[in-house]
Amino acid sequence: MSETPPKAGKCPVTGLGGEPEPSAAEAPDAARPAAAPNPARKRQPRKTAPEAALLPGRAGLFTLVRLARGNVLNVIPQPSLRLGMVSGKLLRRFHVVTSPEGNRRILKTNIANYPKSPEFKGVLEKALKQGLFVIEGEEWRWQRRAMNPAFAPRNVARLTPPMTRSAEEAAERLAGQPGPVNISYEMMKTAFDVIVRVTFAGGDGESAVPLDTVSTAIDHYLGDTGRVSAFDYLGLPTWIPRPGRVRTHPTLKALKDGADAAIAERRRKPNTESPALLDLLLDAEDPETGRKMNDVELRDNLITFLIAGHETTAIALSWALYLLAFEPATHKRAAREAREVLGKRAATGEDVPRLVYIRQVLQEAMRLYPPIPVHLRTAEADDTVAGTEIRKGDTMILPFYALHRHKLLWDRPRQFRPERFDDPSKIDRYAYMPFSAGPRVCIGAEFAMQESIIILATLLARFDFALTDRPAPKPKLILTLRPDRDIWLNVTPARRGKGGKPRA
Ligand code: HEM
Repeated sequence: MSETPPKAGKCPVTGLGGEPEPSAAEAPDAARPAAAPNPARKRQPRKTAPEAALLPGRAGLFTLVRLARGNVLNVIPQPSLRLGMVSGKLLRRFHVVTSPEGNRRILKTNIANYPKSPEFKGVLEKALKQGLFVIEGEEWRWQRRAMNPAFAPRNVARLTPPMTRSAEEAAERLAGQPGPVNISYEMMKTAFDVIVRVTFAGGDGESAVPLDTVSTAIDHYLGDTGRVSAFDYLGLPTWIPRPGRVRTHPTLKALKDGADAAIAERRRKPNTESPALLDLLLDAEDPETGRKMNDVELRDNLITFLIAGHETTAIALSWALYLLAFEPATHKRAAREAREVLGKRAATGEDVPRLVYIRQVLQEAMRLYPPIPVHLRTAEADDTVAGTEIRKGDTMILPFYALHRHKLLWDRPRQFRPERFDDPSKIDRYAYMPFSAGPRVCIGAEFAMQESIIILATLLARFDFALTDRPAPKPKLILTLRPDRDIWLNVTPARRGKGGKPRA
């Protein structure tokens, strides 16, 4: 294990210094969350967190396609960081929406007019035809009603033991690695362990169902084909072939076989003592009609959970650890909290309410790097959104990445400052949306927060994280907001003071 401690001062990787004070355009306004006093600021200026270059001016179709092939974030227009709506035409009319008012109209008050664009569902639609993520209308409504209780806080609390077990195993793996650690890989593995155990095993995480097939298949699926084509984001018609789509079949079949086997096993041998998500879904019924899910609906939803719940959480954790290594003063405060609450043991669901600052670290990491950073909706009928006329067929682009960095909504938006979440009631619900908002808000949001807090706190209680001399990762949109290169960090045992008390 490397002995390099976190360094203060300039970032050794980027060499970046403090950000200038906000300009007049960044002056506080009613919508902006108040900046709380921050002890770390006295010691050192905060740096600009790694970011993607946005599109500075107008560009033609070919330039856009070229840019988007490299990184879809590069085609988000820069003015969307200070305006509420940027409109244009590129084969189709489009509107880039970054105002809370506009988001509220699209995601809540007139949601029926804005179904997810087929381009956005992309490969997911093919894999999960009857899964909650892609279905619309009445089909979506009854499934969501039936599944909501399984994801209610009371139930999520029962699903936390496998999260603790996976966090413990992650800490053991980190302790056994001599040099810098590939955090991206470790968090993918940990989040995958959690979601597979919670979905199929239940209780302490021992699984009675065959998981090898699911595990291999999902690795292929995400590695080879779970990528949105750059074309999808440019509003090109769906008939233009995307290379990834053609290759989905064998992997998809293996994935479905794994889930089918798990469902059949549980129907034969029900598990009521320590239910997994699968058991909860087998029992789930629409409270209004009593309808239950058939095997295909169950299967598509199990795979939906694996995909929607795995990479998103892993990315949030990887960026959170990177940012903590990037800002040693913040690392110190978060580690102190973890060590005071946990000592050296792994976190459980019962610890979560006391891990307040660690929650804020994750909230802030997902502000800077929302795991699903751009959403596409298509207008089904004419409408008006935040004063702009919308026509039937227009594409609505909702770049949460830019919304979360909007200069009129956030104080020093490019800096990592978990303190801005000291009082979340000051933040407009439609200005901060890592889990989206409105009726189609992420059903796994509570689950993901519990899981991420348990894992992050367990790791911070035992280790210090510091930057290596590798180049800084930049955010890159490939369906989710991944770092463009794996995140590697130096990981050392937590320094402890006299009598074994945590020093952080
Ligand atoms: C940090 C982790 C996560 C993030 C940032 C995240 C984010 C999101 C977002 C933004 C949406 C809305 C998508 C849209 O409207 O187009 C969504 C939907 C969804 N998420 Fe998550 N998610 C996370 C974890 C999870 C987990 C752990 C699960 C399941 C165990 C899950 C299951 C789903 C499902 C099923 C939907 C579709 C809900 C519906 O349409 O009714 N997510 N998620």
